Amino acid sequence: TEAPASLILLFGATGDLAKRKLYPSIYNLYKKGLLSDRFAVVGVARRLKDDDDFRNWVKESIDTFGNSSEDLTEFISHFYYQSHDVTDSESYRELKNLVDCLDTTYHLDGNRIFYLAMSPEFFGTVAEHLKEDGLTDTKGFKRLVIEKPFGHDLPSAINLNKRIRSAFKENEVYRIDHYLGKEMVQNIEVIRFSNAIFEPLWNNRYISNIQITSSETLGVEERARYYDKNGALRDMLQNHMMQIVSLLAMEPPIKLTTDEIRSEKVRVLRALRPFKNEEIDQYFVRGQYGEGTINNETVPAYRNEPNVDPESNTETYVAGKFMIDNFRWAGVPFYIRTGKRMDKKSTKIVVQFKDIPMNLYYKNGSSLNPNLLVIHIQPEEGITLHLNVKKTGQGMETNPVKLNFSNKSIDGMNTPEAYEKLLFDCLRGDATNFTHWDEVALSWRFVDQISEVWANQKAPFPNYAAGTMGPKAADELLEKDGFFWWPVA
Ligand code: BG6
Repeated sequence: TEAPASLILLFGATGDLAKRKLYPSIYNLYKKGLLSDRFAVVGVARRLKDDDDFRNWVKESIDTFGNSSEDLTEFISHFYYQSHDVTDSESYRELKNLVDCLDTTYHLDGNRIFYLAMSPEFFGTVAEHLKEDGLTDTKGFKRLVIEKPFGHDLPSAINLNKRIRSAFKENEVYRIDHYLGKEMVQNIEVIRFSNAIFEPLWNNRYISNIQITSSETLGVEERARYYDKNGALRDMLQNHMMQIVSLLAMEPPIKLTTDEIRSEKVRVLRALRPFKNEEIDQYFVRGQYGEGTINNETVPAYRNEPNVDPESNTETYVAGKFMIDNFRWAGVPFYIRTGKRMDKKSTKIVVQFKDIPMNLYYKNGSSLNPNLLVIHIQPEEGITLHLNVKKTGQGMETNPVKLNFSNKSIDGMNTPEAYEKLLFDCLRGDATNFTHWDEVALSWRFVDQISEVWANQKAPFPNYAAGTMGPKAADELLEKDGFFWWPVA
């Protein structure tokens, strides 16, 4: 069923995210009949001139990044533009006039989504102005969608949250983690809780370790100004990776409601084993790429990228070991690794089951392969189960086989589809696949300790060549526990 009538007020209307993801997503919802006819989008930014300018911008974005075949005239007629100064009250009052007027024209019932897809330094300012200048004063629903990063560390996140919460209640805040919009990330719960053969085994009696790899081939691109201050720990681990860990480790929720699911995820984060500063090397490894070759092309070292400090101590790679100290997971390491300029773009989870108590088929020094459940998040979407069967013919030798399920894969990464789902959820008021404040706070608290230690120790960077799977120390992290990274292919 279609979403309720609503106005979407989009800050950062000329930004990269809006252009690549948001307009194509809104359009897809429209095309699928999931958007009410009663919708309007107001884009605010500083660059463009007027509605026509904006409509062309939106059209071009859909032509380039979306899949449109038809005439977009009717669709883009719902788009309006306002040049805006985010620090100026007068500017918000003009915006309010436009919004009120569109509310009447399109019969929007006062429903409003405020989407902040702009520079994070203004998140707090905008939220406060929205309230002070009357935009949140409406008889319909009001929701704030906010992109990452949600703060830079726990203190800044607390501060940002305070400012936001002065204008919106927690259940009106939709903090985006686009990994939660990915089909196979949403599938983790379903695989776990709808299959009798997995849930009974999903614990420390039968699982030996879990490995999550999210590798990228891209470097820092044009984002060095942001990235050099943040690094892989803040950019990927604090949000996407920790969210995946929570979904893999959480207890079955009592019901599939937002509150129940979130509270189970929060409990996982609460159970993360804390460590002392001097123990950090036992749990975490950082890396930064040097020059190397990707797809037969030589790419520069991170420190030689534009706008990167030539002596940058920022990590472009992080590997870590999470221990979850509760009854279900005591003793089972969750290993994660993520980085830029690695040898392929891929996100995968490998669940490695324990060896059976006795191997009857042990022969010629070769042992049985462990059972693995691989969840392919991208670029392929699917699951593979690794089993052992009898080798056909005489004798009793075993042969490893793979049972494969492949979801019809959507090509491309970070596709509009994730945003499309999240946007639709927000329009319907379903915050399940957004990050609750408690999750943000707990994950920052965990990450802050690591980043503080790292900030005070100069790392021997670069320590991995572009186009490889990361520094050697990341392999040793597993080797000392008797494991190794399963090849991601
Ligand atoms: C973003 C990070 O959150 O996720 C980027 O800021 C990263 O640095 C991106 O490239 C990866 O997303 P995806 O969907 O391509 O895996």
